[in-house]
Amino acid sequence: MSKTVTLTDNTTGKSIELPIQEGSHGPNCLDVRTLYKELGYFTYDPGFMSTASCRSDVTFIDGDEGTLLYRGYPIEQLAEESTYLEVCYLLLNGDLPAADDLHDFSRIIKEHSMLHEAVRRFFDGFRHDAHPMAIMVGVVGALSAFYHDNVDVHNPEHRRIAAHRLISKMPTIAAWSYKYANGQPFMYPDNNLSYTANFLAMMFGVPSEPYQPNPVFVRALDLILILHADHEQNASTSTVRLSGSSEANPFAAISAGIASLWGPLHGGANEKVIRMLEEIVHSDKSVEDFVARAKDKNDSFRLMGFGHRVYKNYDPRAKIIRKMCHDLLAEMGDMGADNQPLFDVAMELERIAMEDDYFIERKLYPNVDFYSGIILRAMGIPLNMFTVIFALARTVGWISHWNEMMQDPESRIGRPRQLYTGYRSRDYTSIEER
Ligand code: ACO
Repeated sequence: MSKTVTLTDNTTGKSIELPIQEGSHGPNCLDVRTLYKELGYFTYDPGFMSTASCRSDVTFIDGDEGTLLYRGYPIEQLAEESTYLEVCYLLLNGDLPAADDLHDFSRIIKEHSMLHEAVRRFFDGFRHDAHPMAIMVGVVGALSAFYHDNVDVHNPEHRRIAAHRLISKMPTIAAWSYKYANGQPFMYPDNNLSYTANFLAMMFGVPSEPYQPNPVFVRALDLILILHADHEQNASTSTVRLSGSSEANPFAAISAGIASLWGPLHGGANEKVIRMLEEIVHSDKSVEDFVARAKDKNDSFRLMGFGHRVYKNYDPRAKIIRKMCHDLLAEMGDMGADNQPLFDVAMELERIAMEDDYFIERKLYPNVDFYSGIILRAMGIPLNMFTVIFALARTVGWISHWNEMMQDPESRIGRPRQLYTGYRSRDYTSIEER
């Protein structure tokens, strides 16, 4: 017998049985789809605190335990053993690839790495000081103009090609957004390099000199990409799903996801973390003073990189990244020396916050952004590129969710309801009478 929850409306005495939908992991869901029809109510849940918007097989988070699984594989194992491209295959296809599959997948991704020359000219339209995330939103959205008539969102093969194009072209667009701001020539992709090394070469290479990506940086960046590849129904992924639910062009839907990611409460946080750590390092105030400000309700200052909607325990990605931050700075020696004070302040901030009742009671732990910025900064990546790298990494997550939604028979256009609190009805008055 299927399990249900009985809901009784005390104002009318009417009861209904709401089915319980069972997942493979995590809380079960109360299926409220018949609620409005049966009882005439909507549910009210700003910020989706208790609402599952879809069923999904892609990623699972247990926020209380601090667990993150991609297609069932713990993030710790993938971080240790895998590569970003293998993780892309896993997220897109559901299983780890056999050696031949990975070889073919890598070849296909490399094949799509160039941009149409007309896309290249889009960059010239931006102001010289445009934020690279603004360029990302614009240029990725512009790809929809190049791949529109030949993308049938109901055709699995077309969806697969769109996914490959996006994963493949994103490093080129990301690197060019950096080059544009620096007034340097755009570097074309080099398909002899790995996915991650190619991105670094397009970012830091110049035509006049050979550039050899540092293998330590390649591995560090590959790990950052793995850790940011997906995170279930967060704001940007939900944005991609919602915009894609109208059967919009996938490149346009991903552009909407990039716009959402840019916000400082989401992917923009890693940029804010570094600004905060620099402020602390250069200020005459103590770390304790900044923690006190974060706790003060009359002060809008928050500890950036702390807290998470889902994790009420240590973010498992933050643990991996903290260790890698430590290892990288040790390996870089003097080269990484100017990042050491930031890392020291970050660890001190974490230590103080983790012993403070305010943070303990609210279960506020460091999230992935708390340490990732220090690694990116140590690699010479400028602050305004941090969220771009996040967008590059998350593209596979967005497109995997979009693809899942497009093949889900229960999926329909996303159309939330509202609790209307405005005027009931009033008559128009002419401008002279107002
Ligand atoms: N510093 C100080 N206090 C905080 C912080 C913080 N970083 N985060 C939450 N709180 C407090 C809130 O003031 C609130 O206190 P109250 O209950 O006394 O009012 C309580 O903790 C709950 O916070 P909410 O904002 O209600 O939690 P929510 O789940 O809506 O927000 C969020 C989560 C946006 C991540 C929040 O913790 C935050 O702003 N953190 C800083 C920004 C950040 O690091 N974002 C990156 C998120 S991870 C990612 O996108 C990859």
